[in-house]
Amino acid sequence: QPEGPGRRWTVEEAEPLMANLVGRDLVKGKAMYAAVLCQSCHTMQGEGGAIGPDLTQLGTRFSPKDILVATINPSETISDQYHATVLELKEGGSIVGKLNDEDAQNYYISQNPFAPNDIKKVAKSNVILKKNADVSIMMPGLINRLNEEELKDLMAYLISGGNPDHAVYKQPTAQK
Ligand code: HEC
Repeated sequence: QPEGPGRRWTVEEAEPLMANLVGRDLVKGKAMYAAVLCQSCHTMQGEGGAIGPDLTQLGTRFSPKDILVATINPSETISDQYHATVLELKEGGSIVGKLNDEDAQNYYISQNPFAPNDIKKVAKSNVILKKNADVSIMMPGLINRLNEEELKDLMAYLISGGNPDHAVYKQPTAQK
């Protein structure tokens, strides 16, 4: 578990910390990744949830800054495959969640990303509008329990995809 103290991380505050990620701690990074719930929704090295994209290759697809933006402001860009759906109901109100399936009569929607097999059936005849949610299923502020060192270990873990040979785990060599 993180020791903290946490803070309300912004991209502006966190980005400078990414400039010099060396000698990081893989075990701690992985522990932070689980503690702040990333693992519940994302797969890394074949382990974890499938609510969001697989993050194993993240470090080759995203810059450290892009990783921070995606983590701190998840709703800023929402990848097509993983968006939530809003069903507006005839009787008023709406249901938001991940659309799992649909058939001629019903939508099948999962409202709790931590219990993805809890599926609610919603009759199409009760739905007046179906649209993509503009808010991500991923909640903001997950990393706010972390202190600076813990955030660096988490970011190193994401950048390295858990590969122990990655540069972020090399000890800084003494300059001669
Ligand atoms: C409740 C489930 C959930 C949790 C918890 C969660 N994510 Fe996500 N994440 C998603 C979903 C869904 C998406 C895709 C939609 C989007 O882009 O917002 C996503 C997208 C991302 C992306 C963009 C990846 C890409 O390929 O586009 C990154 C990076 C990411 N998450 C990192 C994290 C990190 C780091 C944590 C832990 C601090 C975390 N996520 C926790 C659900 C989650």
